[in-house]
Amino acid sequence: MTAPLIDPFQRPIDYLRVSVTDRCDFRCVYCMSEDMTFLPKKDLLTLEELDRMCSTFVKLGVQKLRITGGEPLVRRNIMSFFRAMSRHLDSGALKELTLTTNGSQLHRFADELFDCGVRRVNISLDTIDTEKFAKVTRWGKLDNVIRGIDAAQKAGLRVKINAVALKGVNDDELLPITQWCAERDMDLTWIEVMPMGDMGEEDRLDQYWSLKDLQADLEKNYTVTELAERTGGPARYVRLEETGQKIGFITPLTHNFCESCNRVRLTCTGELYMCLGQEDMADLRDPLRQHKDDDHLETAIRDAIKLKPKGHDFDYSRQKVEGQMSRHMSHTGG
Ligand code: GTP
Ligand code: 5AD
Ligand code: SF4
Repeated sequence: MTAPLIDPFQRPIDYLRVSVTDRCDFRCVYCMSEDMTFLPKKDLLTLEELDRMCSTFVKLGVQKLRITGGEPLVRRNIMSFFRAMSRHLDSGALKELTLTTNGSQLHRFADELFDCGVRRVNISLDTIDTEKFAKVTRWGKLDNVIRGIDAAQKAGLRVKINAVALKGVNDDELLPITQWCAERDMDLTWIEVMPMGDMGEEDRLDQYWSLKDLQADLEKNYTVTELAERTGGPARYVRLEETGQKIGFITPLTHNFCESCNRVRLTCTGELYMCLGQEDMADLRDPLRQHKDDDHLETAIRDAIKLKPKGHDFDYSRQKVEGQMSRHMSHTGG
């Protein structure tokens, strides 16, 4: 038996998020600029290298693997990677293989994802208004995403919608989005906007819609019951008694959840970020490429986990943006 990964704050690390590409076919305004520069393709880990990397994490006790991006489904031949990872589900080593996607390509891959053992997908969708959607994503088409959602549900995948709470964008859509998700039997999670990537302070504070306020708005319209249930991610959940719906809240700003953090993030170039909101990072590409056996990689992973910080420093409470990261969300995969 190998010893599990435990960080300096005694948190067991059993959840790996892997960004398989920093590229995306959308340009969400809160995430990247329209002329975003992406990494040279030659810097990316190959799918075989990603397999070796992830398999080593699984060997070290990772039980939940979430594939992210950028947009993971724009990476060429990504299904062969899902297929390869499904062997760890078959062996019982991995409990969950899943992904976070913008949904644009989902109609092409939903059946195959299900076939690879994926049972849930998280789809990022901030608005159900066609025009607003085009504005927020710059390049996205709502119809395409809805087509992807339909295909996912038809394939048997459980869908969770992730909506970033944005003032001036979706603060007038709380009830329509809630109802839309209820009608389609989809879970819904709201996320507070984090200061990731250069955006300028004014923008962030103008965009910020605290989930305390959002929950208060919900309570004006529904009977809201707090739930103890967790999925291994950072969300806490409530139930709306009138619809029976579960709503999640991811609140890095108003209620920090770092004390129960169980995850690290691998980028598409083989950097391991120990926290979304800190710069601490370890290069795993060299130990992977320079040695045929996995011992050096295992040691590099264990050493990296020893450096996991206590948490992020995001804070807007003094009416200014603190804890800003220059890194974009698409780099580490959210
Ligand atoms: P579930 O398995 O559905 O619980 O997934 P999850 O919430 O772990 O994954 P998802 O991709 O839906 O995460 C949603 C968003 O939550 C991410 O894109 C981030 O914006 C945010 N998030 C996830 N983990 C962390 C974290 O460790 N710190 C912070 N600050 N935000 C996080
Ligand atoms: N703050 C919060 N969430 C963000 N996302 C992208 N950028 C940010 C940000 N600055 C979300 C996306 C997606 C997930 C991967 O991260 O909308 O749901
Ligand atoms: Fe792409 Fe996701 Fe960033 Fe939007 S938030 S641009 S979907 S990586």
